[in-house]
Order: sequence, then structure tokens, then C-alpha cells
Amino acid sequence: MQALPGFRDFLPEGCAKRNCIFARWREVSRRYAFVEWEGPVLEPTELYKKKSGSEIVDQLFNFTDKGEREVAMRPELTPTLARVVAAHEREFKKPLKWFSIGQFFRYEKQQRGRLREHFQLNCDIIGENDLAADIELVALCIDVLRAFGFTEKDFVVRISDREFWTDLFRENNVPAERWDELLQVIDKSGREPREKTAEKLGHLADPVFAILKSGGQSEKLDKLVDGLCRRGLADFVAIDVGIVRGLAYYTGIVFEAFDRAGKFRAIAGGGRYDNLTAQLSDDALSLPAIGFAMGDVVLGELINEIPRAREAMQKAITSDRKIDIYIVIAKEERRTDALTQIQQLRDRGYRIDYSLTPTKVARQFQAAEEEGASLALLYGDEWPQVKVKNLATRAESLISHDALLDSVAKFLNMPGSV
Ligand code: HAM
Repeated sequence: MQALPGFRDFLPEGCAKRNCIFARWREVSRRYAFVEWEGPVLEPTELYKKKSGSEIVDQLFNFTDKGEREVAMRPELTPTLARVVAAHEREFKKPLKWFSIGQFFRYEKQQRGRLREHFQLNCDIIGENDLAADIELVALCIDVLRAFGFTEKDFVVRISDREFWTDLFRENNVPAERWDELLQVIDKSGREPREKTAEKLGHLADPVFAILKSGGQSEKLDKLVDGLCRRGLADFVAIDVGIVRGLAYYTGIVFEAFDRAGKFRAIAGGGRYDNLTAQLSDDALSLPAIGFAMGDVVLGELINEIPRAREAMQKAITSDRKIDIYIVIAKEERRTDALTQIQQLRDRGYRIDYSLTPTKVARQFQAAEEEGASLALLYGDEWPQVKVKNLATRAESLISHDALLDSVAKFLNMPGSV
């Protein structure tokens, strides 16, 4: 039996990599003073039907539960966030700066960079209209990627503004009901034959192609880039009006992060969604919002692709896996004494391993090396003294078992002491 298509088993190596990704996500989000929150993985299907737009609705993992409710595994977090904020808004000072790390489910055709489950970091600022929030959020997205060792040569955040397109629709008297559909066509235009896009756009094809070719310009986008420039981040961004985003709720600035080589799908995407909370609140409470999500799948591929990031990840995994002390039981009569001290050492927070069953001493030392232990403590003929071995320098000393806890503490703070 294998996992379902598009679902992953996380063996220890994969889990270590995932934990390392989560740790970086959390660390950088906190550097920006974002606080963590979480929502349910199952929501009423209606939430996505109303809010996410047709593309995501077609990809829902949905079913009728035993209480006859129509439910869906969450494909994204933003509608949940808007629902939660609409319900609890009064309890918090604005703006809210919230982040979340969780798993999401989309019944997509499995392909490189696209699975049926993935993890996302979501970062959102709610309750702030000012462009300062947009700048802060794009900077956060850049800094999260920089934390993995990527530079401006490895990735770029392409920034756009949906208002370019909605202004064009307005000028051409396109009814508002058609905007979403046309935005989807423009969003896909880079991936589809020109004739197909032209046919779908009708009389708008020429002006749309002209804007895509010339690139757009606006005071808002200039200010945004200027804000990033002042933080020394200008080399990480480019204006690209072809970025529209597939989700229905975006209202203004939108952006996506890509690898520079253009080999992978988007690493992250987001934008402004100023009307979503109003649509989900009973009293039509309007709260401006901007956010982005970064997925673990494309990010993981890019980490493997760029040697600097791959090595940094490997180093972090190796160091995270290391144990502090390996207990070598050289004489089985000493096992109980050793276990008493193992318990004491673990209570003090040290990572300890030992052989569960009688094993040759050489094999136990080999395990100590493989697990990256700093110290080996040998329980054998020397009892009531314990042989303490510094596995880096091979230096050894004998310490009475009742003085061991202090000696170990001293050594692990200052490895030269054995
Ligand atoms: P999204 O662009 O649909 O945005 O997803 C964000 C990121 O999640 C993508 O750039 C991609 O890395 C990853 N991702 C999406 N689908 C898959 C998949 N099937 N397999 C692997 N990775 C995937 C959103 O979800 C918005 N809710 C983001 C947002 C937050 N906007 C405002 N706040």
C-alpha cells in the first residue's frame, strides 16, 4: 500500500527538512513581530465557494459529513482568516500582524511543484490601509527567503497591481461580473498560446497585450519599490503587470516570488484583499488586509537546486539531530546505575542515547559517533567512577558518579574541560 497520489510520507530526513523550514518561517515572522495563530483544517464548503473563486473550488477535497454538512479540507487559509477576524476583530488592537504554519489540500493534477497536500507559511496584516503595510509584507517575504541562504541572484518577487486591469475594464465598460473571469485569463496568459488568450479576451486583447508588453507604471508601485529600495531590498523585486493571481478576492497590490532561472512554479504569492472581511462579517465590517503564503514544496525544490541553500539546510539538519551524550554500558551489572543517571541527565534536558540491549562496546562507541554525541560516558569496571570521553578530542578522564552531573554540565558548556 502506498500513500495516495500527491500525498507525502515524511521519513526522518524529510521531517527534519520540514522542521527546519518551519523553524526559519517562524523565526523570521517573529523578527517582524508577527504572532502565530491557527484555524481548523475542515471548513464549510460554502466558505470557499463564496470567497476563493472558481479555480480553487474545482480543486476542493470536499464531502458531506455524518451530520449532512457540506465540508471541505482547507485549500488555503485566507477565507478562514477573514472569518476569524470578522468574528473577533474587537478583541485586538489594529493592525493585526498574524502568521500561521499549516497543511493545505488541493485536488490538483500532480506535477513538479504541485501536490495534493502542502504546507504554507501565511503572513497577513489586517486593519492597515497604508502602503507601509504592503512594503513591510513584501520585505518579510524577501527576508524569509533570504533566511534560507538565497540571494537576489536566486529569486525575485514580481509585483503588480490589479487596479491596472480593473481600471482598463472600467474604461472599456466591461461589466463587473466579468472582471474575475478576465483576470483569470490574464493570469494564465503567460502559460497559454497567445491566440487562445486573444480569443478569450475579445476586444480587450489588443490593449491587454499592449500593457503586458510595455509593462505598467503607477505611482503606487513606484512608492512600493522605493520603500523596498530604502531597506536595501530593491534588487529582490521587479514590477510585472502580468502577475494577476488566480484567487478572486484580491483588490490591489499582488505579488509572487519566483526562482530567477524560471525553472519552478511560484514559491510564494499574495496581495491586498480589502473587501474580504466585510463580506464575511454580519455588520459588513470593512478591514483592509494584505498577506501572502509561501509553500514548502517549491521552496524545498529550490533549496535542493541552490548549493548554498542545500548545504545550509544539511548543516542545520545535522546539528539539530545531534545528541549530547551516549551512555556506553560496558558491564551489564552497571545497567541499572547507568539508567538512573540517564534519567537524571534527561531530566536536566540533555539528549541521551544508549543501547537498549547488551551490545559490544565498540558498537556502542560507533553509535555514539554516528549520532554526533559530544561525550560518551562509560559504565564498567571503573565503577563507582565513570569514564568520560570527549569524542572530538578523544581525551578521557575518570569522574566519580556522584560528581558526574556537574562535570557533564561544565563540559557541555565548555567542551575543553575534559
Ligand atoms: P496561492 O498562490 O494559492 O496563495 O498559494 C501560495 C503558495 O502555496 C504557492 O505559491 C505555492 O508555493 C504553494 N502551493 C499552492 N498550491 C500548491 C500545491 N498544490 N502544491 C504545492 N504547493 C502549492 C494562497 O493560498 C493565498 N491564500 C495566499 C494569501 C495569504 N493571500 C493573502 N494572504
